[in-house]
Amino acid sequence: MKSITFDYKNTCQINGSELDKVQKELPKEIERMNAARTSGYDSDYASINLPFDEELLKAVCARVKEKKSLSPTTLVVIGIGGSNLGTIAVLEALRGKFYNSDQEVKVYFVGTTDTDHVNDIAQITERELATGNNIILNVISKSGGTTETIANFEVLLEILKNHRPYNYHQFVVATTDENSALWDIARKEEFAVLTIPARVGGRYSVFSAVGLFPLCFLDIDIKKLVEGARSGCALSTQKNFTTNYAAISAALIAHHYRMGMIIHDTFLFSVALESLGAWYRQLSAESVGKAQTREGNKINVGLLPTISMGSTDLHSVAQLYLAGPNNRFTTFISVAHNASDLVLPTYSEFESVVPAIQGKSLQIIMNAILQGTEKAYAHDKRPFVVWEISEKSAYYIGQFMQIKMIEMMYLGFLLNVNPFDQPEVEKYKRETREILRLS
Ligand code: PA5
Repeated sequence: MKSITFDYKNTCQINGSELDKVQKELPKEIERMNAARTSGYDSDYASINLPFDEELLKAVCARVKEKKSLSPTTLVVIGIGGSNLGTIAVLEALRGKFYNSDQEVKVYFVGTTDTDHVNDIAQITERELATGNNIILNVISKSGGTTETIANFEVLLEILKNHRPYNYHQFVVATTDENSALWDIARKEEFAVLTIPARVGGRYSVFSAVGLFPLCFLDIDIKKLVEGARSGCALSTQKNFTTNYAAISAALIAHHYRMGMIIHDTFLFSVALESLGAWYRQLSAESVGKAQTREGNKINVGLLPTISMGSTDLHSVAQLYLAGPNNRFTTFISVAHNASDLVLPTYSEFESVVPAIQGKSLQIIMNAILQGTEKAYAHDKRPFVVWEISEKSAYYIGQFMQIKMIEMMYLGFLLNVNPFDQPEVEKYKRETREILRLS
């Protein structure tokens, strides 16, 4: 079987003894992670056990079967942040940016409360329902009380109720924590409910019903996805540091952060992985952007997670990256084997326009650009690491996401913050509710 690769030895500008020093901080945490593997959902690390949960898989597949028996043409996923970013990341990685083309069931994601955007989707659902087609609304909110999610859900529910006044409840699936306000309403309204284990946080929830229900509904092979995640978990809980990429990556990011590299750029050389970058950005920002240490002391720690797209952003921000302040650690991500292999014709008259590309494949050209970029970074002493995902399949995307989630748990430990809470996000939610109450 092919395997993910991770290169850092000659690129990250850290010597063996410095890496040894950081790595010595991790064994206890790796042990705790291993202990959590056998304690179900009863620890902060609960999410690492989701891919092993056969009951969850069965429950999700059963719900999908039940709702698919209504022959819907459209799935609308209503949720924000950790409640939709992982699903979008997987879907785009596997189907590309045009994930709806040629699909029997189309999917629309409703996140923020942008009235025109929500209206576009409301009109699509209205049209589908008016022509006799069925739609499924999957409302996802861990807390069950996020303003954007509930507001958007109400708008779409109203349309559904107008068109299916007697059986609208059959077309709704609510994914939320047990006993949340949304859970209560769902029970009263007789919506189907999928629950999220209490200690699985939003940004770590892609392998819970949050991600698995919509992905399975869209015919993504979720068994392969969680199989990949299980292998990612095994790789990332190894005690042997030299092959534990999640631990090494966390150690390198932490070391460079301590040396003043306060920006962590994820530079993706694959258009389909852009949303995977957005998912990682949230994972990092909410996990290690903290005002307090684990002991409660004031600290204000965190990396600014940025996303760059190769090779597009070489024509946008590379000048700054190579010439500006040396305060950025870069993670390059590429795909080893793509599904297609477009080869250029051999036009001799183009040889003088761009030499040495005639008859070569786009993959060879892209690889040359990536290697050229890495050389330029090395030359200008900009530290980086290189991940290569074998292919954009459910297995390897699942593997990569699990490695990155565990990397983030190690990073939280190394930076001495709690990577599982998000108190400041809750602050804005509370303030918004108060403003709305007074308006
Ligand atoms: O990762 C997180 O915890 C947050 O980004 C949440 O996912 C986001 O705020 C949405 O919250 P909820 O799922 O409770 O509606």
